[in-house]
Amino acid sequence: MTTTKQVSNTRVLISKIPEGTAPNKSHFRTVNTIEEVPQLEDGAIYVKNSILSLDPYIRYDFPEGTEETAVVGFGIAKVIKSKNPAFPMGSTFFGPVRWETYSVLDQAQLGESVNLDNGLDKDVPLSVYNGVLGLSGFTVWDSLNRIGDLKAGETIYISSAAGTLGQLAGQLARRKGLRVIGSAGSDEKVAFLKNELGFDAAFNYKTQDRRIALADAAGPQGVDVYYDLIFDDTIDIVLDLLNPHGRILSIGVLALHQGQELAAPKNLVNILLKQLRYEGYMVYEYFDQWEAFWKEVKPLVKSGEIKYAETVVKSGLDIVPETYVRLLQGEFKGKVSVQIGDI
Ligand SMILES: NC(=O)c1ccc[n+]([C@@H]2O[C@H](COP(=O)([O-])OP(=O)(O)OC[C@H]3O[C@@H](n4cnc5c(N)ncnc54)[C@H](OP(=O)(O)O)[C@@H]3O)[C@@H](O)[C@H]2O)c1
Repeated sequence: MTTTKQVSNTRVLISKIPEGTAPNKSHFRTVNTIEEVPQLEDGAIYVKNSILSLDPYIRYDFPEGTEETAVVGFGIAKVIKSKNPAFPMGSTFFGPVRWETYSVLDQAQLGESVNLDNGLDKDVPLSVYNGVLGLSGFTVWDSLNRIGDLKAGETIYISSAAGTLGQLAGQLARRKGLRVIGSAGSDEKVAFLKNELGFDAAFNYKTQDRRIALADAAGPQGVDVYYDLIFDDTIDIVLDLLNPHGRILSIGVLALHQGQELAAPKNLVNILLKQLRYEGYMVYEYFDQWEAFWKEVKPLVKSGEIKYAETVVKSGLDIVPETYVRLLQGEFKGKVSVQIGDI
């Protein structure tokens, strides 16, 4: 007689779509089901999730319909059953997982995944592979290289600079010889940028007039590059302040995640008049560069030359929605992970 093994699977669902507002706890529901360990199709894997990466963009993925949906984020997991040779049983997986204890991932869902055992450095905490050495870090490294066209002596301005992407963007730009200005939402974060990460200047966008603060921080050299993580009306200000041949690198949409109005600049003519370049970047097309990213950035993280702040909350899945809401409210610096199990 064969017995099918069963597991208890806790899962966070989106129960309500936030309309024109930031998500709050009431938009989520946690359910628990007893499920059979699934039979896998060729190419699929079955993972036990360990360290979930909480990313602002999850808000953007909320479906338009009314049906409850599982939340899909990125995270680190242990492969416990496999029909995919790239991710054998027992390997450490980084990629898209749902906010649940166990996930089945078919071949089509594995395109943005990495087998961490092929380069895992035990001297670096595993959670860092959610952040500065994960998708966030890769996004920054690749976008700056691919579309940044950064030149020593230029000035770059980074919004949400104390966030996961912002922290690394500032440090990588500085290593390339740029002058770095950042903005963040608290004086404590501003001090962190200047004192810990070595930003040349930083300001609190909540308490200071952004136009005056940015112009003051830039001084007569002006601004050459804007690393935009928000997509709000800061773009209007930057379009006025950018030097000729400046670039706007459009990377994030934190305003959208917050249910705020997106930028609709009235001064786009500056693109023509100052011969600016305004370019968007989406990481999903470029995973072929992952090895090169690790080769360059991992030693810098390991040696402490690249610094990062991160928060790892050790708890059950039920705490994930409120931690995500706190992340959007600006409570943390850098990557926020929730460790729901051992690896
Ligand atoms: N293009 C791509 O391929 C790609 C890849 C990865 C991530 N992204 C995007 O990049 C952006 C940044 O990601 P991240 O992980 O580094 O997030 P993050 O900056 O850590 O996000 C959280 C922080 O955002 C700030 N924030 C929230 N709403 C804001 C607003 N309306 N204006 C200004 N700051 C706000 C808060 O800090 P304060 O205290 O400073 O307000 C909060 O601590 C996100 O939109 C993300 O989806 C894009």
